[in-house]
Amino acid sequence: MDKTILRLENLTKAYQKPRTKLFQSKKSFFAVNDVSLEVYKGESLGIVGESGSGKTTIAKMIMDLVHPTSGEIFFENKKFSELDLKGRQEWRRHIQIVFQDPYGSLNPKKTIGWTLQEPLDIHHIGTLKEREEAVLKILEDVGLPGSYIHHLPHELSGGQRQRVAIAAALILKPQILLVDEGVSALDVSIQASILNLLKDLQDLYNLTYIFISHDLNVIQYFCDRVAVLYNGELQEVFQTENFDKEKHCAYTKKLFASVADPLTKI
Ligand SMILES: Nc1ncnc2c1ncn2[C@@H]1O[C@H](COP(=O)(O)OP(=O)(O)O)[C@@H](O)[C@H]1O
Ligand SMILES: [Mg+2]
Repeated sequence: MDKTILRLENLTKAYQKPRTKLFQSKKSFFAVNDVSLEVYKGESLGIVGESGSGKTTIAKMIMDLVHPTSGEIFFENKKFSELDLKGRQEWRRHIQIVFQDPYGSLNPKKTIGWTLQEPLDIHHIGTLKEREEAVLKILEDVGLPGSYIHHLPHELSGGQRQRVAIAAALILKPQILLVDEGVSALDVSIQASILNLLKDLQDLYNLTYIFISHDLNVIQYFCDRVAVLYNGELQEVFQTENFDKEKHCAYTKKLFASVADPLTKI
């Protein structure tokens, strides 16, 4: 558990503030400000913070969807900015993401089978038969029947769609799975089943999770360590099981005071 798989070093993202007046000069602000953080192989690291604290911006920088203003990301000690094209493609394959709204990330006109097979086609993995078998296997692993390959996203429930989104993220066997508010849109009972599924998949696929949520109950249930973000700045990182034993910064105390029983398991 002590091997670092991913490291953020002084990661910063500045954006321009929207102008409120016509001739106002452009001002920038830090969506993410000087964040340094290590992610250990096999752990579930939570990133918690209120809306607008920079969680998704961190996820997008890790996914190479947003370029950092400054700072570096290291994957297994390799600097991302120094990787060649092949290295970048490898990186993208090994880090996948599940967003809050699977409906938005699944193509509404394509069958589940098509969506799950596409990444294997793009990366030329296996024969056609092996790809079809891999799709059926991943459906089974996320608890959906094989017949769902013929279904379209709108024929599925929210929880089932999130299972498909998880399957799509795992089909290329990544090392790291980012889950950005991945259960926030679901009913509590469905949330629990998806969280349990993610825990099972962690063992099955040897996954490292970066689990982003504003929901402290979910974070405490799911994560080994928790990083607290406020206004783009990292406040502290602590072991979940030591929550009661450690001294916390004022913001963390305030955040966790709003949870009725912080250690309640779902
Ligand atoms: N593309 C963008 N352009 C300008 N501001 C942005 C952009 N993306 C995010 N922001 C701003 O950056 C801040 C952090 O956003 P985000 O990372 O989405 O927070 P969170 O995921 O914690 O809710 C917010 O103030 C948001 O409005
Ligand atoms: Mg977000």
